Amino acid sequence: MTDVPHRGVTREPAAQPTAPYLEAITAYGFRGSLRFHVPGHKGGEGADPGLRTALGDRALLLDVPQDIEGIDVGPSPTPYERAEQLAAEAYGAQRAWFLTNGATQGNHALCLALAPPGTRVILQRNSHASLIDGLVLSGGTARFVAPEYDVELGMAHGVTPDALAEAFDRAPEAPAAFIVSPTYYGMAADVGGCAEVAHGAGAALIVDGAWGSHFGFHARLPRSPLALGADAMIASTHKIVGSLTQSAMLLVAGTGRVDVEAVARGVRLIRSTSPSALLMASLDAARRQLAVHGEALLDRTIRAAAVAREAIDSVPGCSVLGEDFVGRPGIAGWDPLRVVIDVRGTGCTGYEVAAALRNAYDIYVELATHASLVLVLGIGQPVDALERLAHDFAETVRQIARTGTQNAISRPPAALSHETVVSPRDAFLGRGETVAVADAVGRISCESIAGYPPGVPSLLPGERISAEVVAYLRELTSEGARLHGASDPAFQTVRVLIEDASA
Ligand SMILES: Cc1ncc(COP(=O)(O)O)c(C=O)c1O
Repeated sequence: MTDVPHRGVTREPAAQPTAPYLEAITAYGFRGSLRFHVPGHKGGEGADPGLRTALGDRALLLDVPQDIEGIDVGPSPTPYERAEQLAAEAYGAQRAWFLTNGATQGNHALCLALAPPGTRVILQRNSHASLIDGLVLSGGTARFVAPEYDVELGMAHGVTPDALAEAFDRAPEAPAAFIVSPTYYGMAADVGGCAEVAHGAGAALIVDGAWGSHFGFHARLPRSPLALGADAMIASTHKIVGSLTQSAMLLVAGTGRVDVEAVARGVRLIRSTSPSALLMASLDAARRQLAVHGEALLDRTIRAAAVAREAIDSVPGCSVLGEDFVGRPGIAGWDPLRVVIDVRGTGCTGYEVAAALRNAYDIYVELATHASLVLVLGIGQPVDALERLAHDFAETVRQIARTGTQNAISRPPAALSHETVVSPRDAFLGRGETVAVADAVGRISCESIAGYPPGVPSLLPGERISAEVVAYLRELTSEGARLHGASDPAFQTVRVLIEDASA
């Protein structure tokens, strides 16, 4: 049983097996209409031969523009409108938007809708950079809430309802709280508990579910954020459920806590007037596959993953994170489509194991850290690839393992204090200069810098740079962490605000 309402209470009970937008562009694409409109490659005939060979004429024929009668203009609901409505129904939302600039675009639109100038929202400190960028666009500010942090593994988990409640105590006027679930490591937060806290404070709960577009579609997966009470979520459908890279969805529940018209305005502002039909058709198709066949596909993947997980777990020095983590602070559920391997006992870092897998077996992982590897599985993961992985991984580790244990680097970032002086927007748009890091103490950062691991920003635009933060980031770089977002990844220089200009 799944917890999404596409079976049972739907406005169009038999519609999920259809893909109206995909079907409409296919009908137009292949019927030989004369195209006196953009794009200039005219269905492929005018395209570079190399591109035609690489993509195939079929893809180019389907690369149709917006505003074709019978596709996205004409009597309402157009095929495009029906496709978005079917997506909303599949996810149990009131409204869905197809996004052609990733979940990033969804976060931007939500900030425009919920965090206008002068509005402070609550934000998980290790939110994706697109939420800080969203505040740069919208002019809002943030009161941060720290995620739980596993010092041993150097891994941030979810925000707890208690931590969220404390954040609301300090920012009771916040109209919305933004949390991340699941994390990059597949750990799901207590979304239901967080929704209760946010609603109790009169605010909306927004879940960045970029990594959880499959949640709710199989009984062994965590429930979907909207079914747990979230008021809106983003789903980076390209990550797991098979739409094309750069496509995603924004979903708003019918709770009335998020102004649908304001979100629609936000989506329009940051959307191209020429969105890619290929990306949107892939969203329509991915929704159909997920809604109709998702449970069966996920079942096969979850079972195959369990076998691979067990085999990898038995490799000396390795252990695979999973169900036993549920119940730790910040973890209310886990995603079996993520294989997260703690490799510390091999005496090697995750970077070394990842490089050895690449060199020996041409295997590429999603993420390597000092302590771990993260492998991402897809909704219809080929089972034989998982079987091969178990063998290749064991053989790789056998060849490179050393005696001794690697430690996860980095102390918890929560100990750092952050002073926000100006809004992210003022810091980003204000006049800045690049200075040596030693001279930056006391200045206001224009940059967002997060060491990976732990993946929690130590510095955000608008924050005062303290000696403690500089020391911490230097310590991370010397230990081999990568600095995400830093204009100078070696952390010799940093961009700061020229304060007179911001006064
Ligand atoms: C938590 C989270 N939110 C949002 C995004 C942005 O997603 P997209 O790449 O689809 O724009 C990512 C990307 O990795 C992410 O990890």
